[in-house]
Amino acid sequence: MSEHDNCCCGGHDHGHGHGDGCCGGHGHEHDHGHGHGDGCCGGHGEGHGHGHGHGHGHGDGCCGGHGHDDKHGHGDGCCGGHGHGHGEGGCCGGGGCHGGGDQVGIFVVGPIETNCYVYISEGECLVVDPGNSGQAIFEHLPEGVSVKYIVATHGHGDHVGGVKALREATGAKYAIHAADAELARHAGEPSEQGRSYDDNAPDPDLTLAEGDVIEVGSATFTVMEAPGHTPGGIVLLGGGTAEHMCFVGDTLFQGSCGRTDLAGGDSEQLKATLARIKREVPPETNLMCGHGEITTMEDELRNNPYLV
Ligand SMILES: [Fe+2]
Repeated sequence: MSEHDNCCCGGHDHGHGHGDGCCGGHGHEHDHGHGHGDGCCGGHGEGHGHGHGHGHGHGDGCCGGHGHDDKHGHGDGCCGGHGHGHGEGGCCGGGGCHGGGDQVGIFVVGPIETNCYVYISEGECLVVDPGNSGQAIFEHLPEGVSVKYIVATHGHGDHVGGVKALREATGAKYAIHAADAELARHAGEPSEQGRSYDDNAPDPDLTLAEGDVIEVGSATFTVMEAPGHTPGGIVLLGGGTAEHMCFVGDTLFQGSCGRTDLAGGDSEQLKATLARIKREVPPETNLMCGHGEITTMEDELRNNPYLV
């Protein structure tokens, strides 16, 4: 086990995490995971799997490499490589399991290490939960990529603090569920825990509701309303080339679920949402959580006390 950092967010270590830059390295191991990052947001590596995880992620640039399941991800630029099948590459690297060469990157941003995801398909980009550092996220996106949508899974400051700067830099449309838009407008003010993030979110360009579909290149993301952590929480279920990918925000984490003791939280609602996710999200789905590790529905159905 090793951990190293010399900038914000530091190394995050569950196996081997190593970071020399902002947001450090992020590595964890179920079996053998190795993450190494020399740039902003560091590397993200994980060995995660079904008895044979040998993940290796290596990143020298923002978003670093991302390796998964006995494969190798290697990235020297933004969004790094994403090995999930056969990723190997530089800027927005090689793709993996998402058909059509779609790319997924992670920026770990802000004081409580929020996972901001970048999904790129056919030159179009969706950014999910730019919680902080909107300008830095913009600067580290691959060249030539057009950010079409910025979607917030919910309105907490650590998920929307970077929306304003990213929207100004990209001209992307900002979307959130109407029930959380007001919460997001206060993102830059100190939270109940006394933390604050870059900026208040602007008024949304679009509000999202159950069944809405966001199209990015050849990928689609269908909105599932997921109240509980906040009233306007949503989950984005991938389709098309994003099949088996699901952005769950703070509704569900590896081995855990979102808290309901913050303003607008409702434990009964969260329970109902989790029951619905259990019924409707297929086991082979990758769950892209708002903090911490990426997991799969299959693993959570087996191990998560809130789903069992
Ligand atoms: Fe949250």
